[in-house]
Amino acid sequence: MSDKRKLVLFAACELGVFDLLAEAGPLDAIGVAARLDTSPQATETLLDTCVSLRLLTRDATVSPAAYGSTRLSRTFLARGSPLSQTHLLSYTATTVYRTWAHLASAVREGRNQHLRAFGASSRDLFSAIYRSEEERLLFLRALQQTWGVHGPPTLTAFDLSPFARICDLGGGLGGLARQCAALYPNSRVTVLDLPEVVAVARTHCPLPQDARVNFLEGDFLRDPLPVADLFILARILHDWTDDRCRHLLARIPGFPVPLSRPPVVSPSPDGPGARAGGGVLVVESLLDADGRGPLATQLLSVNMLLQTEGRERSAGEYHALLAAAGFSHLQVRSGLGLYAALLATQ
Ligand SMILES: C[S@@+](CC[C@H](N)C(=O)[O-])C[C@H]1O[C@@H](n2cnc3c(N)ncnc32)[C@H](O)[C@@H]1O
Repeated sequence: MSDKRKLVLFAACELGVFDLLAEAGPLDAIGVAARLDTSPQATETLLDTCVSLRLLTRDATVSPAAYGSTRLSRTFLARGSPLSQTHLLSYTATTVYRTWAHLASAVREGRNQHLRAFGASSRDLFSAIYRSEEERLLFLRALQQTWGVHGPPTLTAFDLSPFARICDLGGGLGGLARQCAALYPNSRVTVLDLPEVVAVARTHCPLPQDARVNFLEGDFLRDPLPVADLFILARILHDWTDDRCRHLLARIPGFPVPLSRPPVVSPSPDGPGARAGGGVLVVESLLDADGRGPLATQLLSVNMLLQTEGRERSAGEYHALLAAAGFSHLQVRSGLGLYAALLATQ
């Protein structure tokens, strides 16, 4: 989608057009404007543009014409849908695009643009990203929503059932951890994240009493890591420089304790089956070996330049980082969507 198309989408989301039409549609433009408290004529312009973008339908057999939602808008653009991506769109519209306005500066300086875009020093990266409670919540919710779409294929790329104790390092609000616990009923999943994130998770995404998911406050760069058979690093390594990644990976124990049974990993074109023992599941978008594609991952890499200390990498680059920490056996599952799963063992 070109930028102007995306801005139409962002505005329609912000105004609640898709929520309204999913719940109360079809409605004519005047009815939509009355409920959203917007200008009738401008609303009609927006609605017609959404129809051309195939985000809405328009029924001209009735008078006045009635606008309705599409399967796509009901599924991904309405707040009430379990697969809703509205927080992600809102974060993109309000925060991400403001840093993209400084791309030339980022390339000149080779660094993120939190200072230029928001006046926030990024000496401590996540202090800049979490510069207000509102930003922190929006960021975490945006990331959490993406697992509704990308979580299941990522978590079933390998059979993780032999890993009874799983730790999701930097697991945010715990969306991926909950899916993992649901898919693997014998697992317990600990979500380790910064104290201010765990506080948000406990307030906004509380766990049921007997949940097999629990939150743990900690700094994965400094504090001792919990005992686990498998550590998940989902969209963590792409935040950091190679040095910081090596430091983090070196802190992960490869064989914390013997597993009750060895991990069963289906045959892979990348090599023989995984060996028994502790492992690391890296979830990231992968660049091709020569770094020249795919475009979606290249754009994510530009996004990482603008907002983090890291970048997207190829499977070979992750292999080198993992091997330096002793995880020399790597299996890769790509073609799952935007994210690939890489299972590494020692
Ligand atoms: C890009 S987000 C990824 C979140 C989650 N894994 C996902 O994919 O949705 C990075 C996560 O790492 C956490 N994080 C950053 N620095 C950390 C640290 N030093 N210790 C623990 N967690 C940290 C952040 O709070 C955030 O939840």
